[in-house]
Amino acid sequence: MCGSMETIYRERNELGPYMTFQPDKKKPIFNWLYYKEAFSSNLVHSLVKEFDITGPVLDPFVGVGTVPLACKYDGIVSVGRDASPLAVLAATVKTRNYDDDFLKMVESEAQKVLEYDKKRQPKFEWDFELFNPIMAFPPRNFTTIRTIRENLEYVDDARVKDFLMVALLSILPQVSYVLKDGGVLKIVGNKRVGDAKAMFRKKIKRMLRDVREYGIVYDEPDIQVGSAMNLELADGCINGIITSPPYLNNVDYTKIYGLELSLIDPHINVKQLRQGMVRSFLRKGSQHIEMRGDDRVYELLTERLGQNMPLIAYAYFSDMCRVIEECTRVLRKGGVCAMVVGNAVLERANIECDDILARLAQDYGMETEVWVGSFRHADVPVKGKLPVRESCIIMRK
Ligand SMILES: C[S@@+](CC[C@H](N)C(=O)[O-])C[C@H]1O[C@@H](n2cnc3c(N)ncnc32)[C@H](O)[C@@H]1O
Repeated sequence: MCGSMETIYRERNELGPYMTFQPDKKKPIFNWLYYKEAFSSNLVHSLVKEFDITGPVLDPFVGVGTVPLACKYDGIVSVGRDASPLAVLAATVKTRNYDDDFLKMVESEAQKVLEYDKKRQPKFEWDFELFNPIMAFPPRNFTTIRTIRENLEYVDDARVKDFLMVALLSILPQVSYVLKDGGVLKIVGNKRVGDAKAMFRKKIKRMLRDVREYGIVYDEPDIQVGSAMNLELADGCINGIITSPPYLNNVDYTKIYGLELSLIDPHINVKQLRQGMVRSFLRKGSQHIEMRGDDRVYELLTERLGQNMPLIAYAYFSDMCRVIEECTRVLRKGGVCAMVVGNAVLERANIECDDILARLAQDYGMETEVWVGSFRHADVPVKGKLPVRESCIIMRK
């Protein structure tokens, strides 16, 4: 490890909007499952062009598959990992190759999964750690969703089942009383909700149309559940990395997407899943995070925040240190890693995540610069509003 240099900042305002999901909200296939934390495909295309990136491209926090799908359109092979089975399912379904026979099979199976005996209630038991899902839906929608989910077990073709599952998961926000509000789920009783049966049919129709009009056939990416802190990939096998880790903003993906995760797998071990996530949120017992082990993280944080740094910041950067170490290891010499992050305000302290992560990357021998895309204004008690950057850290091995 070596000492680090001053961080170089470049204004790249034109990339700012691409660091959000907004531009892809209406983009066919990219928009199959709404993931507020995603960035947009234009960012991937811009980076690929600017650095002349060839495959394989890795996204170790693949989310709903923006990187592998954009790479597929650019004719680049890719690899994706994510700790969340929801993210992996959505990314996989969006990036598969489909033919006419498959689409016909989806149409006929979609009809079947909607059929049910009105005298019989579905047996699917939907268990969710935060609240009883029955409270989150009008009774008719609750029955429809459990019926579809139960019937999905009888779909023989695994790819058809995955396709229909994504359609079902994607309609949950519109057919439930649940609102994702920052890092928490709220049940809003007077929220207007759509009819689950009609929305499911409509969604399938749209997904089929998207595949027919915009689907392309190219090497399917290798997307799997896995941890960015322990990539099971060979040294130097990756040509470029484009990614965005969880931000240090107290959003627990296993909670805000918990309803979806519990619908995919009613026996899911959420606690174990949570343990494997980068620690970007406070969880039970996090007051016991030990301030030992990562001396470099401790040094960088005390330099900026003093001895009373928020514990979660120490945990976050310790985990991100492992991520950067892994990214450096799997990247070929000369390869570029582009990492989108947002700075944070915690306990009234402005935490410059882009600068700290760039410093950590320098310790692993990377050359870095920070492209500043935009500024958000975070509410800070007493102080009012503080501008915080959203940036893309460019690291070259
Ligand atoms: C900001 S989102 C990535 C969104 C992605 N760029 C997209 O466009 O969809 C961060 C992702 O990191 C995942 N994640 C959190 N901890 C992880 C870990 N240890 N290893 C791999 N993925 C992790 C979350 O499940 C989430 O999908």
